[in-house]
Amino acid sequence: MKIFGHRGASGYAPQNTISSVRLALDQGSDGVEIDVQLTKDNEVVVCHDWIIDNVSDGKGKVSDFALVEIKKNDFGSYFLEDFKGEKIPTLSEVLEFFPKDIILNIELKIKGKSRDLVAEKVADLLLFHERIENTIVSSFNHSSLKKIKKLIPEIKIAFLYKRCISTINKDISDFGMDIYSIHINAKCANKEIIKEIHNHNKKVYVWNSNDIETTKKLYDMEADGIMTDFPIDMKNALWKY
Ligand code: G3P
Ligand code: CA
Repeated sequence: MKIFGHRGASGYAPQNTISSVRLALDQGSDGVEIDVQLTKDNEVVVCHDWIIDNVSDGKGKVSDFALVEIKKNDFGSYFLEDFKGEKIPTLSEVLEFFPKDIILNIELKIKGKSRDLVAEKVADLLLFHERIENTIVSSFNHSSLKKIKKLIPEIKIAFLYKRCISTINKDISDFGMDIYSIHINAKCANKEIIKEIHNHNKKVYVWNSNDIETTKKLYDMEADGIMTDFPIDMKNALWKY
């Protein structure tokens, strides 16, 4: 079962920062998940929240800042003083150092009109950085995935689900394009749903598992991977399990 650092190793470092991504890599993660969205000047930045109030010393919506302005905020010290001065990363900055042999899961955060634009901008960056092979693009917004798949037919895409809904089988059949993996909420994970998704020949990645007991249960259920804020702990838990 693959272990993905969720927003990097966000249990130990400020989420979605370069430090967090680097730490997830250092902790031996098989993959790293990050969230991306657009700034006012349509730069792709790595950030989960729509507003920066809880993840920086600044205030306001990501989409109201130009890149040069949002870069002035400190995205580290809210978490721990040791990370003071940490800047919001662009996707490009992550792609510059991210190893080619580790899976990068980019979650497209979509709001309103930005739907196609986010997909287009991410596609441009993946092509520019030649970062297609070990990348999975996921989203709760399945139509954005259609957009990126049209732009890069060989890209791996993943449906994200928050709720435990019964339409997964139908969604897969109706989509009309190849989906690589289905990312389900840990609350919804059970042997049956994982088997059903496997019957469609899709991987099942489960978000999030932050405790050892849940991780072991998901392993027993034959999940293909988990997202976790604590990659090293989950790696250790599965060692010799
Ligand atoms: O990719 C799975 C998970 O990250 C989705 O939830 O809110 O942490 O982006 P969230
Ligand atoms: Ca995410």
